[in-house]
Amino acid sequence: QRVAVFASGTGSNFAAIADAIDQGSLDAEIALLVCDKPEAKAIEKANERQIPVFAFQPRTYPTKADYERDILQKLNDCKAEWLILAGYMRLIGSTLLDPFEGHIVNIHPSLLPAFPGKDAIGQALSTGVRVTGVTVHFVDEGMDTGKIIDQEAVRIREEDDRYSLQAAIQEIEHRLFPRTIQALIQAEKREEIKS
Ligand code: GRF
Repeated sequence: QRVAVFASGTGSNFAAIADAIDQGSLDAEIALLVCDKPEAKAIEKANERQIPVFAFQPRTYPTKADYERDILQKLNDCKAEWLILAGYMRLIGSTLLDPFEGHIVNIHPSLLPAFPGKDAIGQALSTGVRVTGVTVHFVDEGMDTGKIIDQEAVRIREEDDRYSLQAAIQEIEHRLFPRTIQALIQAEKREEIKS
């Protein structure tokens, strides 16, 4: 299955997905990295791996529908079947949601529905919860509101700060995300065989 990964930042989840593919534990191909920040580290990681990149600057387009139409064109050109949001810091609009409904997944660093939106790790620390975690979910028009696919919990230790908690969360993300994508792809294959 051909997947497009969307990222805005470091791209450590993008790299974890690419590594899982190289190691044979994820039966997919990254057809494209879509990035809304031309200076993002994720782009370097894609270049190192010779994965095609579509980098764009949203502010150079009049509206979200305009830049999403450009993205859609690239996704169609490379025949992407799944959109994997790995730290993509924008809401997906109907231009992409409609054609890819049920095939867009996001990873979020909390146990949703707790702490949606920005800085979920900071929110968990300032609220004082003892357990937080990671959620992989389908994307709908809301902010981190789509149907939950899988979750894993992380205990917050007394001595944790933002950096140590983020490290613990990312360690889980890098295992959970490729595994969940693989499960989705396999489930779809089984459906295809049945029908
Ligand atoms: C991850 O923690 C993810 O949960 C959140 O954004 C972060 C992206 O990190 N949505 P990276 O760019 O994959 O390193």
